Amino acid sequence: MNILGKVTLRIILVLCPIFAFAQQQDKYAIIPRPVKIIAGTGSFTWSNSTKIVLINGGKEFSPAVDELKAFSLKCSAQSVPANKVVLKYDPSINADEGYHLIIKKNLIEIKVKSTAAAFWAIATLKQLMGVKVLATGQVGIKTIAVPCVAIEDHPRFAWRGVHLDVSRHFFDLAYLRTMIDRMAYYKFNKFHLHLTDDQGWRLEIKKYPELTSKGAWRKLNNQDTVCMELAKTNPDYTLPQKHFKMVDGELKYGGFYTQEEMRGLIAYATNKGVEIIPEIDMPGHMMAATHLMPWLTAKGKSGLAKDFTEPLCPCKETTYEFAENVFSEIAALFPSKYIHLGADEVEKSSWKNIPQCEELMKKEGLKTVDELQSYFVRRMEKFFNSKGKKLIGWDEILDGGVSPTATMMYWRTWVPKAPKIAAEKGIEMLMTPGEYCYFDAQQDGGSLQKVYGFDPYNYNLTTAERKKVKGVQANIWTEYIPSERRLEYMVFPRLLALAEVAWNKNEENWPDFDRRLQVHTQLMGAMNINYRMPDIKGFAEKSVFVDSAYLTIKKPFKEMVVRYTTNGTIPGLSAKILPSKLLIKAPVQLKMAGFISNGNKSDVYTIDYEKQAYLKAVTGKKLESGLKFYYYPVYYKNAKSINEKDLKAEKITKAVEIPLTETAPSFATRHVGYFYAPTTGIYTFALRSDDGSLLKIGDKVLIDNDGMHFSIEKSAEIALEKGYHPFELLFVEGGGGYTLQLQCKQPNGQLKAVDPSLFFH
Ligand code: ACM
Repeated sequence: MNILGKVTLRIILVLCPIFAFAQQQDKYAIIPRPVKIIAGTGSFTWSNSTKIVLINGGKEFSPAVDELKAFSLKCSAQSVPANKVVLKYDPSINADEGYHLIIKKNLIEIKVKSTAAAFWAIATLKQLMGVKVLATGQVGIKTIAVPCVAIEDHPRFAWRGVHLDVSRHFFDLAYLRTMIDRMAYYKFNKFHLHLTDDQGWRLEIKKYPELTSKGAWRKLNNQDTVCMELAKTNPDYTLPQKHFKMVDGELKYGGFYTQEEMRGLIAYATNKGVEIIPEIDMPGHMMAATHLMPWLTAKGKSGLAKDFTEPLCPCKETTYEFAENVFSEIAALFPSKYIHLGADEVEKSSWKNIPQCEELMKKEGLKTVDELQSYFVRRMEKFFNSKGKKLIGWDEILDGGVSPTATMMYWRTWVPKAPKIAAEKGIEMLMTPGEYCYFDAQQDGGSLQKVYGFDPYNYNLTTAERKKVKGVQANIWTEYIPSERRLEYMVFPRLLALAEVAWNKNEENWPDFDRRLQVHTQLMGAMNINYRMPDIKGFAEKSVFVDSAYLTIKKPFKEMVVRYTTNGTIPGLSAKILPSKLLIKAPVQLKMAGFISNGNKSDVYTIDYEKQAYLKAVTGKKLESGLKFYYYPVYYKNAKSINEKDLKAEKITKAVEIPLTETAPSFATRHVGYFYAPTTGIYTFALRSDDGSLLKIGDKVLIDNDGMHFSIEKSAEIALEKGYHPFELLFVEGGGGYTLQLQCKQPNGQLKAVDPSLFFH
């Protein structure tokens, strides 16, 4: 604690002896967790006669205070004796966004030195006020008890971002406002809008009206078709009717924001403490524009090139004329000092063997197409700077040489050296690695804790280099997120875990975060957020019994009611309630889902029960410790395709691990040997992988977690006789960073990483 903090704390303790000396945070449920909480006793009674008093800096704080006025509060002169909220400018507070919030029985005192800090103080206050202040309409609510407490708080990072791709699917202004409210509630302060991509141009550009009159509307594409197929079993995948319109005599799908509307959104966000960062992604991801202006590409045509679509040509002056016209309007419209140029996933091979590119490369001394891209980015950066703006680009801006004044947004988990390279070049970084921050990735029981465990410094950065990390951000790519409900399901509660990383990281506090999350499920419910419920646990998707078994699950909340069916239908509110112990005596498929009182429903879980005899152990083998490990540095699209002709290395390994210091970007492995079952009984295996994996025990596939996917866990039980059982684990990594973990629960044991002493070969 600094000197100022000590002094302030002493003053608080003198002024308010009700505060306990020990830190007791347990009864508060603030997310992100404040840096310091001193518990109090009793509560402040909030009513519609509570007055707000602004001392110094009143005008700057008024947008933050408007939040409170929404709950029947009136601004007042300074002379109100009690039941008041005093918001004070206090230059002695250390951090710009830091605040002190002191709640006593007759007074709430907020001390800040910036408007931003006032927003965060009020966000904390609103969380302390609980569900009542969030309930729409407030009908019948007369008072709210706000628990006494003293809080000193400040953020870990200045950039606490949320990105939203409004190109793949369009989200309207009303919904963006809702998102801004929710971001501010969790102290996020940057809203990065991915405004253009191949699938749609979403912002009016006055110089090129067709970009939106035509480019914002599409015939349904293959991603839409996937969503429509998924909508047959999950209505949240339905493409919203409100985004269909007749355009040029055809029914099309899309939408856009006029500049006037965007100005309104910017003002709304500013009044919540949130800054909007525009991204116009170029030179790649430009098909919405190049369909209309194919002359901007190197070959004069628009469409898919090799891996990505035809990019703008960096060797034509017409490209710069177009880009500068667009960004002139962007720079004038958005007050943020940052503009995002994108520059990711560019099909640079399209620039090879093009006379004007060869000429430019010769003239500028550029040797590769990477350097050509760098030329484009640097030239755009100069243009941004001429408008008083700073350039952000995805981490591909490192390729071909990066300007030291650019800001890199790190996303490619499979280029783990990128942050170190950027740091050594002294450039600022924003951390959004796919593994942790891509909230379009499917979720399972491990996803939330994974986000919570994200360490944005874990890239071999020195203390000095860490200063270059300006913050973290959740990225929401919407190829398969067409609706607001689906978006919320993907984003919440992961966003709360990232809020904690962004504001006040403390990994040992997972159990405490989990506790606070229980309260926040009610708060999210009161905000009508379709959050993904924490998982029901304690079972395997493939379960077995020998004579009979009991299903006993673990609910994430006491008040959750779990219902089930055995006829293949999705359980609804009229399905049977799952008892605390369900006797299973015959093979059955059981589907279950959890319900809570606000109408929210969990995922649907399927358990297949199979009757088994204990699998005979193998005998007569002389075995040694460890597993045989085989390595194939080749891309396979699934583990079933591994081909022995590609074998490059083999070793003995103690456990399920990849015992190599370096791997090819795409590769496959096999672990082969025996699993020793110490007793006869039912064993559960849980296999998590990114990408695909297959576990075989005996001569059968026990877990099929195959194919290209994010980190997903699958589990299965097997009845094993005591002794050795053939074991094989196949794994494929397609690129982008890998995960491979195998856990086992022995009869009457706990699920944990398989004890290496149980592996033999
Ligand atoms: C990206 O995900 N292409 C930045």
